[in-house]
Amino acid sequence: MTTILETERLILRLQRAADIDTLINLWSDPAVTHYLGGPRERDWLRTEFEEVGRNPAAEQYDLWPVIEKDSSQLVGNCGLLDKDIAGKTEIELIYVFAAGAWGNGYATEIGRALIQHAFEALELERLIALIEPENAASERVAQKVGMRFDREVIRPDDARRKLYVIEKAAAHASV
Ligand SMILES: CC(C)(COP(=O)(O)OP(=O)(O)OC[C@H]1O[C@@H](n2cnc3c(N)ncnc32)[C@H](O)[C@@H]1OP(=O)(O)O)[C@@H](O)C(=O)NCCC(=O)NCCS
Repeated sequence: MTTILETERLILRLQRAADIDTLINLWSDPAVTHYLGGPRERDWLRTEFEEVGRNPAAEQYDLWPVIEKDSSQLVGNCGLLDKDIAGKTEIELIYVFAAGAWGNGYATEIGRALIQHAFEALELERLIALIEPENAASERVAQKVGMRFDREVIRPDDARRKLYVIEKAAAHASV
């Protein structure tokens, strides 16, 4: 079973060999990575994605390809990653889409589905998002999926991030 979840317009599934070139284009795009630490080096990305390809289901928390049902194209890389926040392990919701796919409500659609997946299938109690303070589109998505601003944090690389949070009880109350 390679599908992690499905929404009205999108499928989130495990990585396949044919995804690698598109994933490299995504993570080396200056516009996409502007608020995410900048473009990654293409050879490094290929090594990383080939490593994932050897066992695509190895990680419980990972970023997975997002496929647009209408076009069957890979349009994003979204998922859940574990992060150390001031000594506590938190699970972060991450949404990254190719620039051509922005503005369709896709991040909101996959974000809501991932939150439901995290709370129901994975039985998590809480998710966070770490948002670059100038990344207004990302902050708007966090708000639309029901997350609330908690505080600002300084990451180990000295980067300032807005910490957004959603808790299971609050998510259910707002449905
Ligand atoms: C952030 C990102 C995921 C949003 O994806 P998307 O599919 O376009 O998001 P949605 O269409 O679901 O919602 C975007 C919202 O932000 C708003 N928005 C977009 N650009 C904006 C801006 N510059 N300032 C303020 N709001 C903005 C949109 O109007 C929309 O809100 P609305 O529905 O109230 O009108 C996408 O731009 C992206 O992949 N960016 C690069 C990667 C990244 O920064 N990811 C976030 C960090 S994990």
